[in-house]
Amino acid sequence: MQVRAKAAKEVGASLETYGFEVESPKEYQCLIKVEYCGICHSDLHVIDDDWGIAKYPAIAGHEVIGIVEEVGGQVNHLKVGDRVGVGWQKSSCLQCSECLNGNENLCDRNQALIVPGPGGFANYLLTDSRFAFPIPEGIDPKVAGPLLCGGITVYSGLTSAGMSSGQEIGIIGIGGLGHMAVQFAKKLGNRVTVFTTSPDKAEFAHKLGADNAIVVPRGKAPPQPTQLLNIILSTVPASLDWSAYLEYLDSDGTLCFVGVTDAPLNLPLWPLLTKRRRVMASIIGGRAAMMDMLSVASRFKIEPVVEVFPLEQVNEAIEKVRSNQVRYRAVLAMN
Ligand SMILES: NC(=O)c1ccc[n+]([C@@H]2O[C@H](COP(=O)([O-])OP(=O)(O)OC[C@H]3O[C@@H](n4cnc5c(N)ncnc54)[C@H](OP(=O)(O)O)[C@@H]3O)[C@@H](O)[C@H]2O)c1
Ligand SMILES: [Zn+2]
Ligand SMILES: [Zn+2]
Repeated sequence: MQVRAKAAKEVGASLETYGFEVESPKEYQCLIKVEYCGICHSDLHVIDDDWGIAKYPAIAGHEVIGIVEEVGGQVNHLKVGDRVGVGWQKSSCLQCSECLNGNENLCDRNQALIVPGPGGFANYLLTDSRFAFPIPEGIDPKVAGPLLCGGITVYSGLTSAGMSSGQEIGIIGIGGLGHMAVQFAKKLGNRVTVFTTSPDKAEFAHKLGADNAIVVPRGKAPPQPTQLLNIILSTVPASLDWSAYLEYLDSDGTLCFVGVTDAPLNLPLWPLLTKRRRVMASIIGGRAAMMDMLSVASRFKIEPVVEVFPLEQVNEAIEKVRSNQVRYRAVLAMN
């Protein structure tokens, strides 16, 4: 069948209509009629080839929600008509120790949905059903997509950093990932402090559940802490004054990076040493974590706040993401 997609034909280009053929799903594949697809900042990193891994034409989109239209002969866990979601990861070997331990996201043979693609900025997606996840009934399909990449990334990052409940959690950057992180941390029983460059977001963060909001103008360091934190999650796609943020960590506290920048980390050793603080980074999450996250989101009513654009307006939507104008996740609607 013919798929209608939006593709960047070269580095950083505006997206253009792009058609291609897909065959019927084989073995473990499924064909999904895409309803919605979130725009994650990683889509921009790929369109712009910030990571040197992009293939053109690049069909981005990895926060996909849609209805299963056809399944291959080996698919048992999904049937035609089911609503599913697909995130950053398209496949893994399913046999190495990482995969067997439920860490498919750490598999050396993991494959991303959009590199080389095609991803979800399209009306249909043919993909491996073993990385397509049933969407719980209680989650509105219009807002569900962002959970599949942004949601799992912050949920897995926070839990891997040791978040339980009754802790003080800091979130740097209140964009797509950050605004979901605030909700997960708060609704799972923690106190939350946000660091944002945008004064309007500081106000809205309280509505999302934040207890404290600190406006840190771009290029500036945060003020001296008045409250120490157990975990700080950075969701910003930029380098900040990390040593100033280390001062916010309590002893045994963890600074966890999920936002991506190519700049080397510039961190002093002494503040780590004297308070036994840790630094870590985390990438998406495995399949078990994904199921767990979707169930938590459904039970605790964790909902991405979205701005919906028709697929035809994908370039306007991308420009809004680039200029940090989206509140808080842009989602493309395919119809
Ligand atoms: N580790 C993973 O597995 C994984 C998964 C998904 C995404 N990511 C990465 O996570 C990052 C964030 O993605 P996203 O979709 O949440 O992006 P986003 O919606 O654009 O949000 C990023 C936020 O960071 C803040 N920010 C941006 N530029 C900044 C700067 N120069 N200085 C200070 N703050 C800045 C802004 O928040 P304020 O307005 O509040 O300051 C912005 O809203 C990207 O690098 C993306 O590639 C990683
Ligand atoms: Zn593996
Ligand atoms: Zn993403």
